[in-house]
Amino acid sequence: MLVAVPAFAQPQVKPSQQPDVIYVPTPHEVVEDMLRLANVGKGDVLYDLGSGDGRIAIAAAKKYGIRAVGIDIDPERIKEATANAKKAGVEKLVTFRQEDLFKADFREATVITLYLLPDLNVKLRPKLWAEMKPGTRIVSHQFDMGTWKPEKRLESNGRTVYFWTVPKKK
Ligand SMILES: C[S@@+](CC[C@H](N)C(=O)[O-])C[C@H]1O[C@@H](n2cnc3c(N)ncnc32)[C@H](O)[C@@H]1O
Repeated sequence: MLVAVPAFAQPQVKPSQQPDVIYVPTPHEVVEDMLRLANVGKGDVLYDLGSGDGRIAIAAAKKYGIRAVGIDIDPERIKEATANAKKAGVEKLVTFRQEDLFKADFREATVITLYLLPDLNVKLRPKLWAEMKPGTRIVSHQFDMGTWKPEKRLESNGRTVYFWTVPKKK
């Protein structure tokens, strides 16, 4: 006899909470420009918050030989990004963690990359100022940080890339 298993009883890989923003990848040329604007180089540790298919962390490891970490809430993205890092041959330098970026510990980062939404950038700002080392570089694809004025900006393939450094604690 065949018994239908109700959907709620079937194993599912689901995000631990709904993503705050849907997955849309940054074009590869814009990724290159983000890394250039952040002046990524030897000794840096890069964190991409909301890392999608892992392209920013993977490009940083491949081009600059640095360690990089991607954080994403969606387990499917983590799986895809991990496979992409392996394909690119940088699995020793790059790791992906399934976490909520608003709760994650990324204090070891010297460079942070973002492609979120304007209100999410603003929501993240207090955590960046409270927890990050002064001088940590932050680049954001397309969205600014409200009243925190960027130090640099760059037009890249019709997109804007913004750059800030975490200020000294008062
Ligand atoms: C617009 S995509 C950017 C992907 C990648 N950074 C890029 O630029 O190609 C945003 C990503 O953030 C993830 N995300 C959304 N809310 C999140 C949260 N609270 N914590 C961690 N990741 C989140 C989504 O799953 C998605 O993969």
